[in-house]
Amino acid sequence: MAGSVVTRIPLCSILFYILATAAAATATVARVGNITADKAYWAKRSEVARSFNRAAYVSDPVAALNRFNEDVLNTTTAMAAAAARRSLMRRYRRGGPCTVTNPIDRCWRCRKNWASRRKRLAKCAMGFGHKATGGLAGKIYIVTDAGDEHLVIPRRGTLRHAVIQERPLWIVFARSMAIRLAKELIVTSDKTIDGRGAQVHVTGAQITVQAVSNVIIHNLHIHDSVARSGGLIRDSKHHFGIRGESDGDGISVMDSSNIWIDHVSMSNCSDGLIDITDGSTAITISNSHFTKHDHVMLFGARDDSPKDEIMQVTLAFNHFGKGLVQRMPRCRFGFFHIVNNDYTHWLMYAIGGNMNPTIISQGNRFRASDDMKLKEVTKREYTSYDEYKEWVWKSQDDLFLNGAFFNESGGRNERRYDRLDLIQARNGRFVGRMTRFAGTLPCRVGKKC
Ligand SMILES: *[C@@H]1O[C@H](CO)[C@@H](O)[C@H](O)[C@H]1NC(C)=O
Ligand SMILES: *[C@@H]1O[C@H](CO)[C@@H](O)[C@H](O)[C@H]1NC(C)=O
Ligand SMILES: *[C@@H]1O[C@H](CO)[C@@H](O)[C@H](O)[C@H]1NC(C)=O
Ligand SMILES: *[C@@H]1O[C@H](CO)[C@@H](O)[C@H](O)[C@H]1NC(C)=O
Repeated sequence: MAGSVVTRIPLCSILFYILATAAAATATVARVGNITADKAYWAKRSEVARSFNRAAYVSDPVAALNRFNEDVLNTTTAMAAAAARRSLMRRYRRGGPCTVTNPIDRCWRCRKNWASRRKRLAKCAMGFGHKATGGLAGKIYIVTDAGDEHLVIPRRGTLRHAVIQERPLWIVFARSMAIRLAKELIVTSDKTIDGRGAQVHVTGAQITVQAVSNVIIHNLHIHDSVARSGGLIRDSKHHFGIRGESDGDGISVMDSSNIWIDHVSMSNCSDGLIDITDGSTAITISNSHFTKHDHVMLFGARDDSPKDEIMQVTLAFNHFGKGLVQRMPRCRFGFFHIVNNDYTHWLMYAIGGNMNPTIISQGNRFRASDDMKLKEVTKREYTSYDEYKEWVWKSQDDLFLNGAFFNESGGRNERRYDRLDLIQARNGRFVGRMTRFAGTLPCRVGKKC
């Protein structure tokens, strides 16, 4: 009976049957899972990550901050001179040249060959995340498939298949696409996700950067991420396991270091746009554009997590724009250099936190709304004056518009964090220029970007 059936079925159907059976068997194994083993697996990964995080932490963050400012001052001065020369040239030559307005962009943007020399970007990070080189040592992986149906055995050509590979990869996109993630996307170490040359929208669930090091996320639109129930998800080539619910952040960085997020446009996620937690450090978020969101950035999620003391984050050249409410960012414990960003909208406060974070705000532009109750940039959460008066929250060379003000605290009489110790940032008056190209860029192959 069976034999006679088989003789009538073409070979490809038999092959399909065999493959389908194999897949079903895998799925059965997969559905069982083993929560104990998964916990042990993540504990192990976390332990390894912690040693990378400790190594990435710098003992003198002020020196790092000064280097950043000096670099910006030097290069913006040089650029201003070049721009002045160009404006003379423009009279003779039609068609505006590519203009770069900050030193990170200067490193790559006005080169026609950016597409054939994509990896140049790996040398362009500045600030605490400056060592992030992403997939520099690896091959180019081209995402050709916007699908995300298979979380345990992702299809080749999908973003999920790319990010789980356990080797450095520089991930690019064959064309513009909208990737709707079915569940959180778990990224492994040594990856660059490079959306240049296409308009790539990532929605549906969060990008999780957990217990890894050396990741660059560049030129993506990330929005409408929502909380997702847990389940079986592959987190690396050799392992998948049961995950709990994911929050619906845009990007969630946990237990990780040497991370650089640049030229992303983010809005409307159900939790934070970017949350950085669990002892993560050595991170830069730059040239990005944030809109339509309540809890924008959480750096340190819990009062009882002193391991966040090693957190060191640079926020530079970003535009905090329309429809934002609060947490740009909200900080705990660590050291935060917030420099040359443009704040044009907040409905509660811009920069806040508790648990004695060090916040150095330099050369930002803060434009308050007309509401008299919303002029203050800062907010201390749940702490009495007696306690927070010691916290080092400093504002230097910031530009305040429409009555905005930053309530400083701490370190007034200390040598550290004085004007004498901190190199000046480029003044907030230049922020409009420096953040002019914040967000994703419409780069075209063969043209300056
Ligand atoms: C789950 O994993 C643990 C630790 O690896 C192991 O001891 C246990 O036997 C496993 N349970 C099942 C049902 O496979
Ligand atoms: C900035 O310029 C000064 C003076 O030209 C130079 O000494 C210094 O090394 C430069 N700094 C950086 C970080 O390039
Ligand atoms: C925000 O995202 C949610 C969830 O995807 C969606 O339902 C809603 O329409 C979005 N809102 C805006 C203003 O885009
Ligand atoms: C700044 O904080 C201090 C201490 O809480 C407070 O006394 C002062 O009123 C605040 N300044 C403004 C302008 O809110």
